Amino acid sequence: MTESPAPDAFAAMPELFTWEFASDPYPAYAWLREHAPVHRTTLPSGVEAWLVTRYADARQALADPRLSKNPDHHAEPTHAKGKTGIPGERKAELMTHLLNIDPPDHTRLRRLVSKAFTPRTVAEFAPRVQELTDDLIDRFAAKGEADLIHDFAFPLPIYAICDLLGVPREDQDDFRDWAGMMIRHGGGPRGGVARSVKKMRGYLAELIHRKRSDPGDDLISGLIRASDHGEHLTENEAAAMAFILLFAGFETTVNLIGNGTYALLHHPEQRERLQHSLAAGERGLLETGVEELLRFDGPVELATWRFATEPLSIGGQGIAAGDPVLVVLAAADRDPARFEEPDTLDLSRRDNQHLGYGHGIHYCLGAPLARLEGQTALATLLTRLPDLRLAQDPADLRWRGGLIMRGLRTLPVEFTPRQTG
Ligand code: HEM
Repeated sequence: MTESPAPDAFAAMPELFTWEFASDPYPAYAWLREHAPVHRTTLPSGVEAWLVTRYADARQALADPRLSKNPDHHAEPTHAKGKTGIPGERKAELMTHLLNIDPPDHTRLRRLVSKAFTPRTVAEFAPRVQELTDDLIDRFAAKGEADLIHDFAFPLPIYAICDLLGVPREDQDDFRDWAGMMIRHGGGPRGGVARSVKKMRGYLAELIHRKRSDPGDDLISGLIRASDHGEHLTENEAAAMAFILLFAGFETTVNLIGNGTYALLHHPEQRERLQHSLAAGERGLLETGVEELLRFDGPVELATWRFATEPLSIGGQGIAAGDPVLVVLAAADRDPARFEEPDTLDLSRRDNQHLGYGHGIHYCLGAPLARLEGQTALATLLTRLPDLRLAQDPADLRWRGGLIMRGLRTLPVEFTPRQTG
């Protein structure tokens, strides 16, 4: 990733959604912010949508109740509607989840899940996240090399969320395989994503059924138990909730660890600052640093789909009822009108109200868990493997091509081999 040149360096509208764009979208976003801040584009799927790139417009759009999360508001013909959701999800009964619904249903479901998934649940989970992190590093520390995506960033969140949900350890590798298929975004065998979603749905339905008669001290049992004014989640709603927790909490965290480690390796002076502060037993720079990594090159490039329920205006641009709107978090978080020197990575940045976790009623429910995992992963990695370095020319690194998420396919690293345990 190079630092973004000034937007005027482009004579014409830059190309979006190419491989070059995927490896460094920030110059194109700078151009859009400057010249076409609310821009109608045709996505690679053929669906037309508005891209919102300025911070002030983005924040407003994320909280605008006239922008619905329900895909039924999409004005496009039905064949395009299936292209706006989680792959394979349309055919499943997993649609009634938080990111696809509006109040009052959203308010009810979010209140119920918030009772089971509290900051306290997450804080109590901290020792397990540390143990998982150490176990994964133990597996490659003696080798002196690793692919940090495959060996570390990918397994950590999937095992963590499985533990939290109450998926028995012996079944967690199945989850790892299904999640691996889902993350490939069509790069796997034909129908593989839909098949994985189906298997995951079947498994979750059965697990929920079992936990109903034999509850444990886990999130799925908590979801089943949670009640609001005497109301409970139905089994379908509980399955959809478990699925969205997995889906929303998995690839995002993979990318926080992957993009975050890459940014640190690419900015050695910042990484050294962090290592010094960790060695001194301080946590302040780690905490502000993870927020800055989310702002600088966060896991969620575009917020999820929103659809105008009536004609409205964003940043002076008219939007018709039924039009899809995509808020470009990655562009908003580099807006010079909001952030000083936005293209500079500054781990101690204080005034950092980034949109990496969204804003408004759909603000990330898993932010405390994401912070815990991100901070634990990066601190442990830099402490245990202090001379970690990239084993590949940054220009040869490949980024995943999906629309919503931003993350690396692989992150090969080298380091002095360490004996473990
Ligand atoms: C670094 C990691 C993460 C990032 C950057 C992130 C980012 C986001 C963003 C941007 C949204 C809002 C999307 C929108 O409004 O269109 C969101 C929502 C959500 N996130 Fe996260 N997320 C992360 C990790 C997690 C984790 C670990 C979980 C749970 C285990 C989780 C669960 C959710 C849920 C359930 C929602 C939907 C909330 C709602 O609609 O009310 N996320 N996340």
